Amino acid sequence: EKVVLAYSGGLDTSIIIPWLKQNYNFNIIAVCVDVGQGEEMEQVKLKAIKSGAEKVYVEDVKEEFVTDYVYKALKAGAIYEYKYLLGTSLARPLIAKKLVDIAHKEGAKYICHGCTGKGNDQVRFEVGIAAIDPSIKVIAPWRIWDIKSREEAIDYANLMNIEVAVTKEKIYSRDKNLLHVSHEGGDLENPKNEHNPDILYMMTIPLEKAKNEPTYVEIYFEKGIPNMLNGNKLSPVEMLETLNKIGGENGIGVIDLLENRLVGMKSRGVYETPGGTILFQALRELEYLTLDRDTLHYKQGISQKYAQLVYDGLWFGKLREALDSFIDTVHETVTGSVKLKLYKGNIMIAGMDSPFALYDEDISSFGESDLYNHKDAQGFINLFSLPFKIKGLKNQRIKEG
Ligand code: ARG
Ligand code: SIN
Repeated sequence: EKVVLAYSGGLDTSIIIPWLKQNYNFNIIAVCVDVGQGEEMEQVKLKAIKSGAEKVYVEDVKEEFVTDYVYKALKAGAIYEYKYLLGTSLARPLIAKKLVDIAHKEGAKYICHGCTGKGNDQVRFEVGIAAIDPSIKVIAPWRIWDIKSREEAIDYANLMNIEVAVTKEKIYSRDKNLLHVSHEGGDLENPKNEHNPDILYMMTIPLEKAKNEPTYVEIYFEKGIPNMLNGNKLSPVEMLETLNKIGGENGIGVIDLLENRLVGMKSRGVYETPGGTILFQALRELEYLTLDRDTLHYKQGISQKYAQLVYDGLWFGKLREALDSFIDTVHETVTGSVKLKLYKGNIMIAGMDSPFALYDEDISSFGESDLYNHKDAQGFINLFSLPFKIKGLKNQRIKEG
C-alpha cells in the first residue's frame, strides 16, 4: 500500500515518517508543495529520504497559487475578522488538490497530513480532498498518536534521530508562503504578552527599524488584477515577491489577531503579509474611485462571506464560484493605477487614475454645474426626511397625550 504524505520538512511532518514506518506497512510518497515557503527544496527532498520516505515529489505551484487563489481573494477583498488576509487558508485547498493528483498518479488510496486535531488546517485539507475524491482515506497522526505537544514532538524527533530546526525555546508554529508567514504558539498563547518583532518577524523589518524615507509604489490594475508595478509588467509571482520586499522594508502588513477558529476555540496568531496588504489597500482605493455606492456597499458583505468560506476550507464549493462571478462582473471597470506612499507601517493613498472613474470633479466640486442644481436638494431632503417627520409628529402627539 502507498500513502501520500503532505511533507514540509518541519517538525510536525518530519516525525510522521518514522511514526508511519513504526505503525503501518506503507510505502511513503512525500509530497512537498512549493507555495513559496522559500525553503531550499533540494534540502527538503533529501531530508524526506533520510527520514525514510520511498519517494519525494516537489511541486512548484507558486504561479497557480497567486493567480487562482491569492488574486481571487484579493478581488473579493476577503479579510477574516477585519484583519487576517488568509495566507494559510488560501494555500490549503491548492495543496489538497496536488496531493490528490499525486495519489491518483501513484495509485495511492491514503493521504496523510501533519495538522493537529485542534486546528483549521485539518478541516481545509480534508474538505478539499473529499471534494475532489471522496474515496481517499485520510490519516491524521496528530489525532491518533499520544504525542500531545510540540515539546513531546521534539522529544520524539530526537529519539528517532530526525533533525529539527525548532528548539524548545523557539517553539513557534509557522506557516510561510508567497502571501504571508504566520506565527502561533509559544509566548503568543498568552494574550497579555506583546509579541516580540525582533525574534518573530521573518518578512518584515520592525517599525522602529524600518526605512526612514517613504517609498512610493504605483500599481496598475486591469479588471481588479494587478499587472504593472511602477510601469513594469510583472508576473503574478514577481508582483508579490517584489511587493513583499518593498513592504517588508517599510514595516507594512503585520497583524496580531486573536481569532475564532472553525473548531470552536479562540487562538492568537501574528501574521506578516507585506505585499498582500499593499495590494488589498491599492485595489480598495481603486474601487472607491470606480464603483457606485450600492455596488461597493453590497460587495462589503460579499467580502466577509468570502473570507469565512476561505477560512472554513470551503474553497471548492459552489458558493465561492458564484461569488467569483459576481466579483468579476463588479470588476469589469476596476481598471486604473493607484499610487501609494509607504512609511513605517503606514500606507497612504498618493494619487489614482482610471478611465472608468465615477468621480467627477465638475460635479463634486463646490461650484455650479449643469447636472447638479442646489435647489433640487431641497425637494430631495423633503421626501428623504418624510418618514422621520411622521415619526417626529407621532412622538410629539404621544407626549402631549
Ligand atoms: N490560524 C491561521 C489559519 O487558520 C494560520 C494557521 C497556520 N497553520 C500552521 N500549520 N502553522 O489560517
Ligand atoms: C494546526 O493545528 O495544525 C495548525 C493550526 C491550524 O490548523 O489552525
